[in-house]
Order: sequence, then C-alpha cells, then structure tokens
Amino acid sequence: MTDDTVADWRTFSTPFALERAERDGDEVAVVWSDGRRTRHHRYWLRDNCACPQCFLALTREQVFEIVDAPADLAVAQVSAEAEGLKISWSDGHRSLYAPGWLRANANDAASRQERATARGKPFLWGREYADRLQNFTHADLMADDGALFAWLDALKTQGLTLVTGVPAEPEALLAPIARISHLRETNFGRVFDVKSKPQADSAAYTAVNLPPHTDLPTRELQPGVQFLHCLVNDATGGESVFVDGFAIGEAMRREQPQAFHTLTTVAMAFWNRDSRTDYRWSAPILALDPQGGLDEVRFANFLRGPVDAPESEMGEIYAALRLFQAMTRDARFSIERRMKPGDMWAFDNRRVLHARREFDPASGARHLQGAYVDRDEINSRWRVLKRELEAR
Ligand code: OGA
Ligand code: ZN
Ligand code: ZN
Repeated sequence: MTDDTVADWRTFSTPFALERAERDGDEVAVVWSDGRRTRHHRYWLRDNCACPQCFLALTREQVFEIVDAPADLAVAQVSAEAEGLKISWSDGHRSLYAPGWLRANANDAASRQERATARGKPFLWGREYADRLQNFTHADLMADDGALFAWLDALKTQGLTLVTGVPAEPEALLAPIARISHLRETNFGRVFDVKSKPQADSAAYTAVNLPPHTDLPTRELQPGVQFLHCLVNDATGGESVFVDGFAIGEAMRREQPQAFHTLTTVAMAFWNRDSRTDYRWSAPILALDPQGGLDEVRFANFLRGPVDAPESEMGEIYAALRLFQAMTRDARFSIERRMKPGDMWAFDNRRVLHARREFDPASGARHLQGAYVDRDEINSRWRVLKRELEAR
C-alpha cells in the first residue's frame, strides 16, 4: 500500500488546513482551520480513494467499483495531516485525500453553495441588452485564447454574442468554430446556406417572416450553439431578432405560474419532413434541470405538429402556448439588428430564440451561412481554456 494518489487534470488548492478529523458512526467529521465542519460518509470516502489501485494512472479514471467494498467496511484509523486526510480501512486499504480536493468536493451546505456560485447563473436579458451586446472580433478570437475564453463565457452566461470582421467568404465561419471544436452535422449539411431557394425544404430557405424559434426542435437533442454568418445582405427586410427564452421563462414563472407549469410538463410535437427525411420529436417547450432552473427552450411554430393531449386539457395548453408566443413578440424581451457582411451571430440555440423579418428577394441578394456546435463542446473547451489560462 502506498500513500500515492493519481492526480486529476484539474488542480485543487485551498488556503485552509485540516485541523481535526475523527470517526463518528458511518462518517468522518472534519474541522478546518477556518472553522468549517465537513462530514464524509465511509462509502463516499472509499469511492473517492485516488490511490493507484483504485484509479488508472494512465487515464485518470476510476477502476475500483464501490460494490466491491465490504458492506461492513469501517474507518479503522483517521488523521488530519498536512498532506491531507489519511484513512486506514478495516480491510487494510489505505487512502489519502488532499486538502484542496476534499474542500472542493465536500458536501456540507456551505461547500455546496460555493460550488453553485462558481457554476454561475445565466444572465437574463431583454430589450436593454441591445446596447450591451457582447461583441468580439474575428481577429481577436483567432489569435488570443483570452478572447476565445471570454467569447465562450459570454455564450454560456448571456447566450448571445456578435462576432464582427469574419471574412465575407463561403465557409469562413469554420475558422473561428475550429478554435472551439468540431461541428454538429445535420441533414441540412455541415454548413447550411440560408437563402431563398426555389425547392426549399424549410421555411428558413424562403423569404417569409420566420417567427422566434430554436433550430431543429424536431431532434431529441437540439443543436447547442448556432453560428449564423452574413455573406451578402442587400435585400430589403430580413432583420435579425433575438429573444432570451430563459428571461421569458422566468417572467412566466413569476407572473403566470399555471402557464409555466403547463409549458414545462406538456410535450409539444415538432416535425420536419421532406421527400427523403422525416424527423419528429415531442417535448415540453420549457425543460427544467434537476434543481428546477431553466435548462432548455424548444420552439418553432413552423415545425409544430398537432397538439396530442387529452381534450380536457386543450384549453389550458392553448392558453399557455398563446401566452408564450405573445411573450416572444413582446418588445420588452427582444432585440433587433440588421446583419452586415462579415457579421456572425453565435447564440445558445437551446435558450435564445431567433427570428428573421420577411425580406424581398427581388430587392437584392441575401446569403447567410450557418453551422452548429453542441453545448458539450463549448463547455469542454471553456473548462480546458480556464485550466490553461489559470496555469499561466
Ligand atoms: C434559419 C434562420 C435566420 C435568417 O435559417 O433557421 O433562422 O436571418 N435564419 O435568415
Ligand atoms: Zn485506493
Ligand atoms: Zn433558425
């Protein structure tokens, strides 16, 4: 047995030392130098042993399975030392928990609250955000990891950003996207061309008004972040409109709780069909995370199928749907801008609804290109950049 531990990719440090540790029934009770008290269940501690027998050093992944611990496994000895919390187990195994790791992962209320604060909350916005929109330049994003991190951070918190100076050439949007990760490909292509097409397979590829929507609500997993890059915009009309779906959701939760409940529980059908494909998915317009926070907005009026619900609920469902649509049109929530060639919107497609005003294809050309990247890629890149920037 050794006291070695397999390090995580992240580094954990704490200014606080372990002062005392003692066994108390099924738990180990720890007192820290700042007075914080944390308690750790024997199974939790055994499960998190990071010794080279329990963890594969090569991948830094766990090989030990907690089911293999004896049911009566007990802490035989415990001590608080400078290197960390040391435990000898009743079966002879030994574990060491570094103070920084233990503090960062402790499950007392104060530590859990610190983790929730560090995760951050979405910054909700409405009309006033038009003047404070987060702007990034293509040149900065291509050259500077700090700017790239700030861009991803804005996508995670605000959900809507504008990038300027992206060369107005086909597929130029792929260069800043490649700074993040790979694409989420769809049946509309790796990169999709948004222009008025004679054989359109989506309302997006005509000149009609596109009311506020998320793209591909017809999929089990809607694309996470959407990039829309303007190559040509000479046509009259076609302005971009954005609405923060989380701001609408939270306003509805406060102002119309019954409608909010309906939209978070009743599945709506979304369909996208052409001669060769038939995509369908049904899910509530507003999805909540396990803590009850808003996690996702799913909506495109032009892709909706008929409501499939007991007739007795129809009145309530339509009241909630009409309210939601009214809120997406409400000027207090929306911002409107006209794109110029070289502009690129990047937004959280599972949060922010986007719209396009009708345009007149006879008045001039209009050509955008779009692509998607899933939220996982944004989050992973954000975490690695954070690690690297902090290590500098
Ligand atoms: C789309 C879309 C916006 C625009 O293609 O899904 O929303 O401005 N396009 O054309
Ligand atoms: Zn171990
Ligand atoms: Zn769209």
